[in-house]
Amino acid sequence: MSELNKIALKIISDGKGILAADESNGTMTRRLKDVNINSTPENRLLFRETLFTSKSMREYIGGVILYDETINQTTSSGKSIPHLISSSDTLPGIKVDIGAKDLANSSGEKVTEGLDGLRERLIKYYELGARFTKWRGVYIIKDKFPSKLAINSNAHALARYSALVQESGMVPIVEPEVLMDGDHSAEICLNKTSEVIRKCFDELILHKVDLSGIILKPNMILAGNKSKSKISNEEVCMKTIECLKNSVPSEVPGIAFLSGGQSEIEATENLNLINKNNNTNFIMTYSFGRALQQSALKIWSKNTKDTLATQNTFNHRVKMCSLAARGKWTIELENK
Ligand code: G3H
Repeated sequence: MSELNKIALKIISDGKGILAADESNGTMTRRLKDVNINSTPENRLLFRETLFTSKSMREYIGGVILYDETINQTTSSGKSIPHLISSSDTLPGIKVDIGAKDLANSSGEKVTEGLDGLRERLIKYYELGARFTKWRGVYIIKDKFPSKLAINSNAHALARYSALVQESGMVPIVEPEVLMDGDHSAEICLNKTSEVIRKCFDELILHKVDLSGIILKPNMILAGNKSKSKISNEEVCMKTIECLKNSVPSEVPGIAFLSGGQSEIEATENLNLINKNNNTNFIMTYSFGRALQQSALKIWSKNTKDTLATQNTFNHRVKMCSLAARGKWTIELENK
């Protein structure tokens, strides 16, 4: 077993998953504005520190993805954030892309940037305590999109990123996110997501990335959020498994889904069904941002000093996601 494979398994085994707390300052400002909180470095730190000191961290969170600001912050107790996270036996990770930018010659599509100077940044992040990283490629479904140009350029960037990350001794999370925005059917989402993921693996293999030392972070297969043809959770589960079975090489140890705009319950229920019906060798778990933090953020915004109330809400959500990662979640447990 390689060192990278060991790190990947430590993050996602035994019902553990990933807390995606890597919102950029722009995104975090929008999230805080929605709950009437000023987006200052102090407030961003306070909310995140409240989550990272929750007792559910040790039991259910294998890794936390951080943003550059957060990995460099120090807590009220004087510990650095990566140190605080490691003290729960959880691995700190870091988002290393610098965002999705307009893709030249394909109006409306994006390509993710951040390869310039990445090798040097990775050395710094490793020194700060990071042991895994994230890079998100983003694709839209609309008319002829995602185009071959967007599929190929994002796959190429994800592969070059992954090779550099493994060279630095860290595990890359490979995140090709096909957005749920639009009126497309789940069948189209299945076809497009499969095409996107297959191209990513063609490029990862070409760039000699060790597939046993990565974690794939895809979207679940959903109908577009403006689609008239709603599909059941059972169909989401079956189509998601079909997609991954047919497009992910067997060496990959695990898949950690993004929530992508699903509600907390929807994402949990879908993950639970996926695990109940998982007939692959892949570990299937969560790498949720909104679906782990939404309720906790609302409670926190009512009284930012009431750490206990926020942590209770977060602990419940994380426990539900962990049950789902083992196919053991039920609505009764959710409402208990
Ligand atoms: O890149 C996306 C985030 O890491 C996951 O966020 O679960 O809210 O989609 P989400």
